[in-house]
Amino acid sequence: MIDMTERDRSQQLLERHHFPMYRRYPITLVSGEGSRLRDAEGREYLDVLGGIAVNALGHSHPAVVKAIVDQARSLIHVTNLYHFPSQARLAERLTAATGMDRVFFTNSGTEAVEGALKLARRHASRSERGMGILSFEGCFHGRSMGAMSTHAPEQRQAFMPLVPEFQQLPFADIDALDAALNDSVAAVILEPVQGEGGIRVVPDEFLRALRRLCDERGVLLILDEIQCGMGRTGKLCAFEHAGIRPDILVLAKALGGGVPIGAVLAREEVARAFEPGDHGTTFGGNPLACAAADAALKVIQEEELPARAAALGVRTMARIREAAAEHPSIRELRGRGLMLGVELSFPGKALVEEMMNRGVLANCTAETVIRFLPALNIPEEDLDRAVDVFLETLAEAEREGDE
Ligand SMILES: Cc1ncc(COP(=O)(O)O)c(C=O)c1O
Repeated sequence: MIDMTERDRSQQLLERHHFPMYRRYPITLVSGEGSRLRDAEGREYLDVLGGIAVNALGHSHPAVVKAIVDQARSLIHVTNLYHFPSQARLAERLTAATGMDRVFFTNSGTEAVEGALKLARRHASRSERGMGILSFEGCFHGRSMGAMSTHAPEQRQAFMPLVPEFQQLPFADIDALDAALNDSVAAVILEPVQGEGGIRVVPDEFLRALRRLCDERGVLLILDEIQCGMGRTGKLCAFEHAGIRPDILVLAKALGGGVPIGAVLAREEVARAFEPGDHGTTFGGNPLACAAADAALKVIQEEELPARAAALGVRTMARIREAAAEHPSIRELRGRGLMLGVELSFPGKALVEEMMNRGVLANCTAETVIRFLPALNIPEEDLDRAVDVFLETLAEAEREGDE
């Protein structure tokens, strides 16, 4: 009999049966608690990637687990043809928390973006405006045909033709925006902090200028806070730093405490552009997902996790900045709150693998940016240890590079 560990079995089965879509790391994770994960061989990891910004409360937060179990016992799914309490509670809590008027629930970030783009075009269809959508270089809004239409030409090439009348502008360039923002444009979509693009923070002044220009020219502003929202940057929504409000806001990732759910939120007048039948979903915002999300948001609010993320982010950035003097390969440190990126002068994949061998899970985005998206409630000493491991691993890579 072949003696296979769970790790080998899972890896073989996934390699055999799943689409070859992901470059997975060779570990099999079986359980988690807080910011710790355990693999099939019982090895523990410190998780500072947080399921790519999903696990804002860490793994299996007791309040989220309780909400899921209680809800699963009473009602898992009924469709949006009926009313049900968990969606009602979440709708009230989320609109109040974000300052938006209405919400529509989806299953994922991409679907929320797709819903937002449809809403913007439906809104434009009620006036003389064109249907154009402007996005920004380095953006990532998802992988549906609509969301992908916002991306750079080289990313879109293999899937052409995509949705017409999308245009990408240079990152945070006010003159380019000013020149492009005319009657042919229905909406502008932007991440206040770009995630996949390498943790690039859009300056608050740019956000304020963008808001002003959109108002002056009757263009809708869609903010994609799927990665940077839910308290990660130090405010529940990153747009609060700039003192503005979008016309449409999209959330997902951390919204469900680990359960898949996304949301399109809008101002009243914009939300009313949709009529029954214009859009919809079978699963989106089902009882189980809404119960989990309501519990997760309650914890974020009650434990004041955005403020904690802000303080811990400042402290961690200061630590890395101080260490950077001894690390010639650190090009730039970027981020806000607990959304941090360290740009290196070389590709970061091998470094991430070595950090994993040393028990810390981070990741690398945009080729050279080591990304930290830890739980907002991560113990300080755990985050410090993850940064220590990163710096030690980096020092070794630098020494090897010199040899
Ligand atoms: C800013 C942003 N928008 C949209 C998406 C797509 O979300 P999902 O993967 O849930 O479809 C992502 C995912 O990484 C994202 O970071």
